[in-house]
Amino acid sequence: MTGPLAAARPYVLLSCATSIDGYIDDATDERLMLSNDADLDRVDEVRAGCDAILVGAGTVRRDDPRLLVRCERRQAERVARGLPASPIRVTLTGCGDLGPDAQLFTVGDTERIVYSSSGAVEKTRHRLGELASVVDAGDPVDLARILADLAGRGVGRLLVEGGAGVHGQFLAAGLADELHLVVAPFFVGDRRAPRFVGEGRFPWHPGRRAKVVQARQIGDVVLIRYALSERCDLA
Ligand SMILES: NC(=O)c1ccc[n+]([C@@H]2O[C@H](COP(=O)([O-])OP(=O)(O)OC[C@H]3O[C@@H](n4cnc5c(N)ncnc54)[C@H](OP(=O)(O)O)[C@@H]3O)[C@@H](O)[C@H]2O)c1
Repeated sequence: MTGPLAAARPYVLLSCATSIDGYIDDATDERLMLSNDADLDRVDEVRAGCDAILVGAGTVRRDDPRLLVRCERRQAERVARGLPASPIRVTLTGCGDLGPDAQLFTVGDTERIVYSSSGAVEKTRHRLGELASVVDAGDPVDLARILADLAGRGVGRLLVEGGAGVHGQFLAAGLADELHLVVAPFFVGDRRAPRFVGEGRFPWHPGRRAKVVQARQIGDVVLIRYALSERCDLA
C-alpha cells in the first residue's frame, strides 16, 4: 500500500454470505451452509491474500471457525513470500467469554490476537494464557484503535468475516473499503435468525449508493463486490 492513509489503518475487506432474504444463519443449533464449495475456495483465496482475519467473539462461540488458509498450495505460496502459512487470526470481545478449547486457539500455529475491552483484559488473559496475545482495546472497545494497532503490527489488508455485530460496526463507522456479499439461493424466513446487519445509520443509503464493482455467478450462488471507499483497489 502507498499514501498517507495506508499507514493509518489496514485496507478492510468485509466478507459475508446471506440467504435471499438477508439472513446469515438460521435459528437452529446446526451451522447453516450458505456458500458452496467453489465459493468457499474463492474465500480461501481471499484469505490467502490478506494479512489478518477478524471475527467477533459471537462467531467464535457459535461457529468455532479455524480461520486458516485451507489450500496447501496457497499456504506454500505465502511461505515462499516470507509470510506465515495463514494470516494472523483476530477476534474481539467485550466480556472475555472465550473458551481456550475453541478451534481458533487449538488448531494451527499462526499468531492469534484477542482485542478485549479494558474491563475484561485480566479475565481474558487468565482464560487464554499463552494461546493468544490479549490486547487492551479500550472501554468501550474502539475499532479505530484496533485497526491502528493492527497497522502497527504490519497488517496492510484485513479480512473481516463477521458476524452481524462486527460487520455492522465496521460499516456504520465507515471503516470498510470493500464488501464481498454472497447470496445463497434460498430463504431462511425466521426472524429469530441473525441478519447481515441490524439497525443502524450507515454511510450508504438511498441518497448515497455504494458502487458495485463486480457481480459473478459461482455455481448456485452470486457474489457481489461493492466498493465502499476510494481506497477500494477495484474501483
Ligand atoms: N454467513 C456468514 O457469512 C457469517 C459469517 C460469520 C458469522 N456468521 C453468523 O453470525 C452470527 C454471529 O454474529 P453475532 O453478531 O452474534 O456475533 P459477532 O459479530 O461474531 O460477535 C459479536 C461479539 O463480538 C464482541 N464485540 C463485537 N464488537 C464489540 C465491541 N465494539 N466491543 C466489545 N466487544 C465487541 C462481543 O463479544 P462478547 O460477547 O464476548 O463481549 C460481541 O458479543 C452467528 O450466527 C454466525 O453463524 C455468519
